Amino acid sequence: MCGIVGYVGRSEAAPILLDGLRRLEYRGYDSAGVAIVNGKGVETRKCAGRIAELANLMAEQPPSGNYGISHTRWATHGKVTDDNAHPHFDASGKLALVHNGVIENYQALKEELIRDGDADFVSDTDTEVLAHLIGKLYDTSGRGNGNTPPQSEKSRLVAAVRAALQQVIGTYGIAVVHSDIPDFMIGARRGSPLVLGVGKEENFLASDVSAIVAYTRDAVYLNDFDIVAVERDRFEISSLAGGGADYRVSKVEFTAEDIGKGDFPHYMLKEIFEQPNSVRDAMRGRLSSEECSAKLGGLNMTPAELRDVERIVVTGCGTALHAGRIGEYLIEQLAQVPTEAEFASEFRHRNTPMIGNTLVFAISQSGETADTLGALRESKRKGYRTLGICNNVASTIARESDGGVYMHAGPEIGVAATKSFTSQVVILTLVALLLGRMRHLSTADGSEIIEALEALPGQIEQVLKLSDSIKAVAKKYASANGMLFFGRQHNYPVALEAALKLKEITYLFAEGHPSAELKHGIIALIRPDLPSVFIAPDDAVFSKNLNNMEQVKARKGPIICVTSDGCAEKLKGIADDVISVPRTLDFISPILTVIPLQLFAYHLAVELGRDVDKPRNLAKSVTVE
Ligand code: F6R
Repeated sequence: MCGIVGYVGRSEAAPILLDGLRRLEYRGYDSAGVAIVNGKGVETRKCAGRIAELANLMAEQPPSGNYGISHTRWATHGKVTDDNAHPHFDASGKLALVHNGVIENYQALKEELIRDGDADFVSDTDTEVLAHLIGKLYDTSGRGNGNTPPQSEKSRLVAAVRAALQQVIGTYGIAVVHSDIPDFMIGARRGSPLVLGVGKEENFLASDVSAIVAYTRDAVYLNDFDIVAVERDRFEISSLAGGGADYRVSKVEFTAEDIGKGDFPHYMLKEIFEQPNSVRDAMRGRLSSEECSAKLGGLNMTPAELRDVERIVVTGCGTALHAGRIGEYLIEQLAQVPTEAEFASEFRHRNTPMIGNTLVFAISQSGETADTLGALRESKRKGYRTLGICNNVASTIARESDGGVYMHAGPEIGVAATKSFTSQVVILTLVALLLGRMRHLSTADGSEIIEALEALPGQIEQVLKLSDSIKAVAKKYASANGMLFFGRQHNYPVALEAALKLKEITYLFAEGHPSAELKHGIIALIRPDLPSVFIAPDDAVFSKNLNNMEQVKARKGPIICVTSDGCAEKLKGIADDVISVPRTLDFISPILTVIPLQLFAYHLAVELGRDVDKPRNLAKSVTVE
């Protein structure tokens, strides 16, 4: 949700900033801009539209200089226009600022600046207020008087940033440069991620390490309320309140190659095809054939504590919550622990009754989703043990949780989440297995589950081989105006997830429902031009699903069915198109049934000419509420 890249070094900043922005484009793509400083002042290029348009602008008039900041925007305050594109400037035009987050009290700050005659605003953004405020404080303080000696320009700018941020209510990741202060930039964060990349005679700032990993793999993940002053060969981290701040330089665990598309036309397709490996990596070292259970040391809980858990709340947003909903079925079935999956955005503001031994799981691929982070903080504030299931190991949710399980799925760049979903479901299966084996599950039950989990990577390979035939089905339904998705039990959340995938990347109207709900109202929608997709593996409710399909068929609704190998015969005359996946245990089937539907949404979106990796209005990591 907005991407920031900053550079101070000896190289030309422009290509480095542009390259970084391209890597961060998944965070937002409404407008983009750079501010590069050289001996003559600040050179700015910015425009509404994608990074490619900014690149054209920069090619026409190349900005030159060895330090600068840049931004790709996902609009929150103010329309998508050239003027609202970042960077924004103070009244002197010498200070440039880029921002990710939301300044909630911007209106009050703006009115004050206008009243005092300190600023003429050229944009409708909340960000411009911050640029003016920092600029004003820089220009008016720390110059020394009879009693105090003047401070250096660098110290004055750090002090101005600190003083301005102390007035701000809201969230921010920012980068600031000033044309009077050569080879110097400042970064700060609260609620929006910011990473310092430590190079050799060059340093970087970025919202995400993927922007800078081609240049350095040494990174400092800044904490909330950190302010970092960055020069070519040094940096200093202090806290918003003043005084030093703790930090650690860590090695980034992936390389620039890992975040390329390889031979795939889109990240989404690459990530769908990575699932045999990502699923394997989610369980690597976590299955114990001896104990017939899972080993999840990162939970930081003793066996007695695990056994004493009386209730579980699983929270997250979007795809992560859909995985959580499968977790709800899994944990209740295998461990009989009452479990509730709850939208993070609702949970954090609701007064959910929680009994003493409630365990909370916050699920998030990015680990930066504002609503999920808010839910985690609320749960911790109330004193509940709160665990994270995250992919990004350096993320705020991973760092603030009391323990958890990493997905190890590798970077997910496609805006539509795919491999993170299956990894999340695998991890929730491990949690359910562990809790179940602490209670009533036998060793035989445990072994059967482990065997089914170990078979998954090979079975996913089988499903991926169906890509071309799924493409043909997608083409057949390309003129549909919308679709309905139905599933029961463990596969009901798959219907929700499949509908979300279709909506996000094809822009078609889609809804997911429990199959049996059909007759309680949804059936009124059924007509010959509205396809229904049933997720009906050969499980305990297969025959019930079959009944529901008959009800659709009787009303001339076209049916696509995702089922288990060997069921096609039973669906003859009912389903128009059948996609079969390998057989597994009922509660593990979502990991296999969701993949054809990821492929279905992907192929349909390509057929409709959609921008699969950067769908309209979306951003990968939603760091605003
Ligand atoms: C859907 C999608 C979103 C995310 C949601 C949570 O394809 O990507 O619904 O799942 O924004 O994101 P994370 O998992 O990063 O918290």
